[in-house]
Amino acid sequence: MRVVLSLGGSVLAPELDGGRVAAHAAAVERLVHEGCELGVVVGGGGVARKYIGAARELGADEVALDRLGIDVTRLNARLLRAGFGEGVEPTLARDYETAETAVARGNTAVMGGVTPGQTTDAVAAVLAESVGADLLVYGTGADGIFDADPAVEPDAEQFDRLTPDELVETIAPMSRDAGASAPVDLFAAKLIQRAGMRTVVLDGTNPEAVVDAVLTGDHTGTDVVPAGSTEPSYWAH
Ligand code: UTP
Repeated sequence: MRVVLSLGGSVLAPELDGGRVAAHAAAVERLVHEGCELGVVVGGGGVARKYIGAARELGADEVALDRLGIDVTRLNARLLRAGFGEGVEPTLARDYETAETAVARGNTAVMGGVTPGQTTDAVAAVLAESVGADLLVYGTGADGIFDADPAVEPDAEQFDRLTPDELVETIAPMSRDAGASAPVDLFAAKLIQRAGMRTVVLDGTNPEAVVDAVLTGDHTGTDVVPAGSTEPSYWAH
C-alpha cells in the first residue's frame, strides 16, 4: 500500500523535543515494516510562523516570507530524518520528482515545502496524486474536519465522513476568514477533490493513532471518501 503522510510542524516539533521526534520517526518505521511505501511531508508549525512574523516586521515581501517558511519545513524534515534507525532508507527530497523516484524505489521520501504561495497541505496532496497513493493522511492538531473552528466555538461538530466536494464546501468559508485555520487548507482540498484522493484527517499528536489509521482505517478523525471508492483492501473490515 502506498501512503502519503502529512505531519504538521506543530505536531512534530511544537518545541524541540528529541523524544517526540523519535516517536514520530518510529511510527513511520513501523509503517514501512508493515509494508507501506511512504512519502512523508513535514510542516513548519509555530517556528515557521515566528520566522515569518519577524521577517514581516523587517519588511520582507510575501514570497520572501514563504521561502523562510519553506526553509523551516525542510529543517523539520531533516529533523524527522535524523530520528530514523537503520531499517528505513529515507530520501530527503526538495522536489516532487526526487520524492516520487524514492517512493518508486521503495525508499521513504521525506520532504517539506516546495514553492511559495501554498502550504505543505498542498504539497502532500500533490505528492499523493503523483505517486498514486492509496491513502493520504493529514496528522494535524485538530481531530478531523469540523463545521467551525473548535478552538473558537466549543460546540463545533466534527464530520466522521465527507466526500471531497463536501470537504471543499466546508473548508471554503473557513478560508475566507482572516486568521481562521482549517486543518486542511482550501488549495489542498481542491487538489484532493480533483484527484478523487481517499484522505484521512486526524489528530497526529499520538503517532500510534496515525499508525492505526493507516493500517486498519480505525481513527477518531474524518474520512474523506470519493464517491464510489471502495475501502482499501488492506483494511480488515
Ligand atoms: P506549513 O505547511 O507548515 O504551513 O508551511 P501551516 O499551515 O502554517 O502549518 P501547520 O499546519 O500549522 O504546521 C509554513 C509556511 O511555509 C510556506 C508558507 O508561508 C507556509 O505558511 N510554504 C510552505 C510555502 O510557501 N510553500 C510550501 O510549499 C510550503
